[in-house]
This record gives sequence, C-alpha cells and structure tokens, in this order.
Amino acid sequence: MNALNKKSIEDIDVQGKKCLVRCDFNVPLNGKIITNDKRIVAALPTIKYLMEHGAKVILCSHLGRPKGQYKPEFSLAPVAERLSEYLGVEVKLAEDKEVVGHNARMMSNALNDGEVMLLENVRFRQEETSNTANFSQELASIADIFVNDAFGTAHRAHCSTTGVASYLPAVCGFLIQKEIEFMGGALANPKRPLVAILGGAKVSDKIGVISNLIDKCDTIIIGGGMAYTFMKYLGHSIGTSLLEADWVAKAGEMMKDAEAKGVKFLIPIDNKVGKEYSEDTEAMIVNSDEIPDGWMGLDIGPATQKLFTDAIKGAGTVIWNGPMGVSEWKNFEAGTVAVANAVAESGAISIIGGGDSVAAVTKLGFADKMSHISTGGGASLEFLEGKELPGIMALNDK
Ligand code: 3PG
Repeated sequence: MNALNKKSIEDIDVQGKKCLVRCDFNVPLNGKIITNDKRIVAALPTIKYLMEHGAKVILCSHLGRPKGQYKPEFSLAPVAERLSEYLGVEVKLAEDKEVVGHNARMMSNALNDGEVMLLENVRFRQEETSNTANFSQELASIADIFVNDAFGTAHRAHCSTTGVASYLPAVCGFLIQKEIEFMGGALANPKRPLVAILGGAKVSDKIGVISNLIDKCDTIIIGGGMAYTFMKYLGHSIGTSLLEADWVAKAGEMMKDAEAKGVKFLIPIDNKVGKEYSEDTEAMIVNSDEIPDGWMGLDIGPATQKLFTDAIKGAGTVIWNGPMGVSEWKNFEAGTVAVANAVAESGAISIIGGGDSVAAVTKLGFADKMSHISTGGGASLEFLEGKELPGIMALNDK
C-alpha cells in the first residue's frame, strides 16, 4: 500500500468546496486540559493548505471511547480552542449531540471560503464504529469532498474514516501522505541495513510485526518485557520476569525463521533485574542465563546496550517500536536512553512508531533527532504488520 497511489488534496480543486476533513484529534486530556497536542500540530499543514486554497473546512474526529453516547467529558471543545490558538482564527465547534445536527448544518452552510469549523466527537453516534450507512450519508450530506488525514485511526473501518468515502470524492491529506511515505518507504525500499528495534511488554502484540519484518530487515533487535519469552525459549530461567508461556514456541519459531533467512536476531545478553515491580526496588545486573529466582528483568543491561548500539551504528534505516525496559522509571531507563542515543547518532533514517516508544523518545528528549515520529499507535503497528489500512484503501486512486 502506498498513499502516493491515492489522490491527495493537491490533486483536486478545493476552492469554494466544503471539505470534510477527518483528523485524529484523539489527544490525552486531564479534565479539559490537553496534555499532549502533537496530533493537533500534525494536522495543521493540511488544514492550513485547505484554508489558503479557499476551501470551506469542516473538521471532524473522535476523542476517546464514549461508546455511541453523548458524554460532555468527551467533547472536542478543548480541541477547538487549541486549534483556534494555532490557526489564529476562531474555530467554532458545532455543538450537536448527534454530531450532524442543526448547528452543523447551519454553520457549514454559512462558512466562507477559507473558514474552518469543527464537528462534535463522531463517536457520540452509535453508528460510527459499526460503520452504518446512515451516519456516513449524514456526514457526506454537509460536504463536497472528503479528506482523510487521520493516520492514527486509519486502521478503523468507521463511518468517518471509510464509510463516508463511498459518497464523496475522497482524498488524503499531508499527514497520511507523510506517514506512508516514511513507513512505506522504510519497508519497501529501505536504505540498508534495515534494523528493527522492537520492545514493549508483550510478544503477542508484536508477533505480526516481527513475522512481517523478518522478511524485510537485516537485523531485528528485541528488548523490553517481551524479550523474556525469547529467553525462556532458549532455556534460561527468567525468575519472575514477564512471560507469555503460550508464545514461547512461536518465539522460538521466529528465531529459527530469522536464522534461516540470514537475519541477525538479537536478544538481551544481560539485564537489570529488580526484586519487585517498583521504581526504587533493589536492583542488580545479571547475565541472561543467570536471572535468580524471585527477580524480574526491568531493563536491558550494559553488555546488551553495547550489543544493540553497535548494531544500530551502521544502520541505513531504523524502525523502532517499543521501549527496552520500564523507561518511565529513572532506575530502568538506561537501556532505552542508550538505544535512543544510538539511533539519534546513527545518521540512519529513523522511524519511531507506537505510543510507548514515542512517549519514551519524547520524554527522554530525543524527538527532534528522529526522522519521523508516527502519530499512529495501533495504526502504525498494523502498517508494520503489512496489513492494509481501511481508511487509506477507501480513498480514490490517482
Ligand atoms: C489511537 O489513539 O490509537 C487512535 O486514535 C485510535 O483510537 P481507538 O483505538 O480508540 O480506535
């Protein structure tokens, strides 16, 4: 799949047209305060382009999971406010509990060229997630063109991501284009060697990604909680470390598959282990075949840091998904910091996907040093698994 084969906003005339733009404004909130607005910032290039080219811009998004009911705490009002600040013009929210109601119709009809408004949370409607035609038709009825720029939600086949594309000319925005260019490029035509770094808690979440990447990568690096399932396969005792017993055999199959295909498959050779799962627990460094009973691995150790960073140094392209340890705790962040540093210094094209690794890289101050930080969590995982994303498939071909 390649967004370049899909029409974009630059391929059509938007002047004077009502453009319904699906964004992913699913931002973290503390009450009504947005605690991270990266997804809003990432949507701005498309919105600004449409405004500058005389479109009447009708933005829409989901926020959280209100489960098909109007719930004021899931209102997009804080997003409208933040957008107004960034765009320097008032972005009015159509406060309809049914999303496409009296306000949305009146306001969209009154929009002047270059003006912008926002609909309420599309998940206030039951039909949204079941992709039922009537809500797709309602959304389509207030617009002339559908623009999907919600990469983070492109793995969902919902009314506002795919359904509405059946009723309007449907094109992608700049964010979707950029995400697919970076991630699709890394998978289809990478600068080699291509190194994938996979971490996080569960092997079961990453099986699809590892299987797909074995056919494409030169090196696969495994860290984080899921590494212990691989160590178990090798016969190591792993103490009380995270283990997915049902996935040990599959982990072994993947290691064998990598070996058969000549792919370097690196797992930790030493670990920082703790007595219990807590930030200030007693900790020590042990080799991977020496984890004592009653201790759990919470980060990779220094020898593993060297093993991994040496492999990253010569990379042409790096895809990173998932931290190396409990990187939100100072005592167990060293492995993730070392890997982040190596990626930043490598000069490789670096692509960070997935919520946890993005949070870690951002918190540790490396965000500016990466070539591309994906706005997709589930969507970027599914993309790396080689799956087709319905929100992109539904768009018009060039
Ligand atoms: C995300 O945060 O990953 C996207 O906005 C999708 O949200 P969802 O998992 O609730 O569909």
